[in-house]
Amino acid sequence: MHPGIYEPEKDSYLLSETIKEFLKNRNKRIKILDMGSGSGIQAKTCKELGFESITTADINPEAISYLKKQGFKSIKSDLFSKINKQMFDLIIFNPPYLPEDDLEPDDSKIATTAGNQGYELIVNFLKQAKFFLNKEGIILLLFSSLSKPEIIKKQAKKLGYSLILLKKEKLFFEELYVYQLKL
Ligand SMILES: C[S@@+](CC[C@H](N)C(=O)[O-])C[C@H]1O[C@@H](n2cnc3c(N)ncnc32)[C@H](O)[C@@H]1O
Repeated sequence: MHPGIYEPEKDSYLLSETIKEFLKNRNKRIKILDMGSGSGIQAKTCKELGFESITTADINPEAISYLKKQGFKSIKSDLFSKINKQMFDLIIFNPPYLPEDDLEPDDSKIATTAGNQGYELIVNFLKQAKFFLNKEGIILLLFSSLSKPEIIKKQAKKLGYSLILLKKEKLFFEELYVYQLKL
């Protein structure tokens, strides 16, 4: 338990499983960015599989200091605002993906709320990620049936991405999706 940091949930484990399958037989030298890394579960999955070039980024300073202690290169950043210009082969993001909910405590919103409608931060991420993705680079992105998935997919296509659904999981109130995006 790490107070103030998002504890891995069903979404985290679904993405981590997808990563394991996706990284099978990939070149171990690829450059990976784990955006919104929180507890670092996704970065740790990559590390355990033998991948070494892993950068983690999060807006939450507590996550950053925790990840630094774990030996990760960690950058406190609002999306890509503090990431030096560089290209990644794989960008992973389990973002906040829910619409604004007045009942949700303010201190947990940073990890869960993507904006009024549930997709705004995700679309912003996609707008910025284009400039940090190698030619053959891939994004693994999770979102939910509550994130207005049709809007996310439409905006992603408008930005030039092609999308493939890699995994989905039905939960009680929502369905989770992991998409692969490529420019
Ligand atoms: C749903 S949690 C996922 C945490 C972890 N990656 C996982 O899979 O369990 C979302 C994470 O995104 C971070 N986050 C929220 N807004 C962000 C932003 N604008 N820029 C970077 N990280 C952000 C949160 O602090 C939180 O750690």
